Amino acid sequence: MCGIVGYVGSREATPLLISGLRKLEYRGYDSAGLAVTGPGSGLASGSDPAPMQVVRCRGKLAGLEALVEREPPRGSVGIGHTRWATHGRPSEANAHPHRVGPIAVVHNGIIENYLALRARLEVAGRRFSSETDTEIVAHLIDEALGEGAKSLAEAVRVALRQVHGAYALAVVSEKHPGQIVAAKVASPLVIGLGRGETFLASDVPAFLEHTREVIFLDEGDIAEITADGAKLTDIEGKPIIRASKTITWDAAQAEKGGYPHFMLKEIHEQPRAIADTLRARLRLETSDADLEGFEVNVRSLRRVVLIACGTSYHAGLVGKFLIESASRVPCEVDLASEFRYRDPVVGPDDLIIAISQSGETADTLAAVKEARSRGSQVLAISNVVDSAIPRASQGALYTHAGPEIGVASTKCFTAQLAALALVAIHLGRRTGTLASDAAKRMVEELAGIPTKMAEALEALGDMKELAAQYRDARDFLFLGRGTNYPIALEGALKLKEISYIHAEGYAAGEMKHGPIALVDDGVPVVVLAPRGPGYEKVLSNLAEVRARNGHVIAVATKGDKQIGGLCDRVLTIPDAPPLLQPFLTVLPLQIMSYAIALAKGNDVDQPRNLAKSVTVE
Ligand code: M6R
Repeated sequence: MCGIVGYVGSREATPLLISGLRKLEYRGYDSAGLAVTGPGSGLASGSDPAPMQVVRCRGKLAGLEALVEREPPRGSVGIGHTRWATHGRPSEANAHPHRVGPIAVVHNGIIENYLALRARLEVAGRRFSSETDTEIVAHLIDEALGEGAKSLAEAVRVALRQVHGAYALAVVSEKHPGQIVAAKVASPLVIGLGRGETFLASDVPAFLEHTREVIFLDEGDIAEITADGAKLTDIEGKPIIRASKTITWDAAQAEKGGYPHFMLKEIHEQPRAIADTLRARLRLETSDADLEGFEVNVRSLRRVVLIACGTSYHAGLVGKFLIESASRVPCEVDLASEFRYRDPVVGPDDLIIAISQSGETADTLAAVKEARSRGSQVLAISNVVDSAIPRASQGALYTHAGPEIGVASTKCFTAQLAALALVAIHLGRRTGTLASDAAKRMVEELAGIPTKMAEALEALGDMKELAAQYRDARDFLFLGRGTNYPIALEGALKLKEISYIHAEGYAAGEMKHGPIALVDDGVPVVVLAPRGPGYEKVLSNLAEVRARNGHVIAVATKGDKQIGGLCDRVLTIPDAPPLLQPFLTVLPLQIMSYAIALAKGNDVDQPRNLAKSVTVE
């Protein structure tokens, strides 16, 4: 998730931008940069504008600081950026700001139609110096100015009328001193109102030490920001009046968006993470999915093998259902830590998909190398652009979840499901097994998932009361069938990882083959029972548990009147087709684990004995 900062006032902008970027470091980044322009510090506005200076580098902020120390950019107007790569690898050329003529732009988000816009601009004779979608916006603004736009804000409006996608943007121009123009669609931006100075940022902590008076930009807002405040319009230039608010959070709370922990923040970011992962890849018009140009030769495709560890492995188990159902291509799922040591039977006709949030997990990386040494084609699904696993693979489909800081993986799990659903649709359309009607239904259902997730999160609440009841349990069981069996495994993993309660996930039909012996009144059993083909069967498994005095917590479809009488608690989720239910059934399990860990006083974001990714042998 990129970080944006901006400043307009009478102080030197550079140190304020750097300190703002430092406060946004928690968002994760792989490169950083700033653009500073006039009027110069202490100069009255109206004096000759200082030429704009742009400084950028790959890597940490210390690198940027060293560069600006050597040659400090002077001026009291500036924008800064920390980049978390989505298009184009982390490099100085891809770092923001992107400069075109007098314009510099920083951007957070995804421009969906950037390929078409780039092609049009290239035909018009424009040359590009990066692989990013952001540079397109700088060209469009410069073009609009060249074609007579009367102000910088007007040029931004003209440019953005051509753009589809999600963006938070900040623009400065050396020909338009004393102002920043900002715009927002689907990515956060907030203005900080100081005395004779105005700040801009992706998130409040960037300027909290200078002001607590803020205006949160809303969808479609364009803001003309000067030292005296901000004028807001819509994309057509119609004025908008929006009252400011006073922030009462402290700096630490502000970093977590007002949530007490990163894990909870990340749980609530899931609707956005899924929407961003699907954006520009899910083709509603053709009922198809694009894999960032990665094409599979389905004629010679013998099978798909998914390899991963931990939570990513559970995403793979759901992926098997998605891929086999849509494409009828046989699919296996393997733990990377087993695959790599097993002399696996894979070859040139197998597509290997390596799933890793961090892109750095040592076992998954070794498994990728093993598969490639046997001639298999490898596609990586990762959340970190240019990390080791995508680099070692022939193709990469990135989840756009933004950095996941909590050790317990939540938003990256569901973003991996979204990426796997894209793979399934892509393969199904090419093998011809996903007919256009079925594809249309699947694409539409998938596009509606973020809204259903938001609805579920809203309805589930904080589960504090449930956590208080079960915090002292010694063991938990999680039961599910079909696509919800992997979710039972994931629920158990999440609970073990952060609450330190022993938990087992089982395929519900397996209970009678042994595990039922564990059930008594001291073992809470979470039963995943959404409406679908396995529903009646799950109800009989639930009855088996009840008959042995087990406490049953059911995850059920909203409106299910039957299940309430059969269990102790019901956690409801919106209806969805079985293949897509995991996006929803996992949500109550994530919140429950969080709430129980919190009730036990555990460090939720940094559980004992665990690191975010396991990169050493
Ligand atoms: O970065 P990766 O997806 O490769 O990490 C794999 C596992 O270490 C990871 O999913 C782990 O199981 C999670 N922290 C569980 O919440």
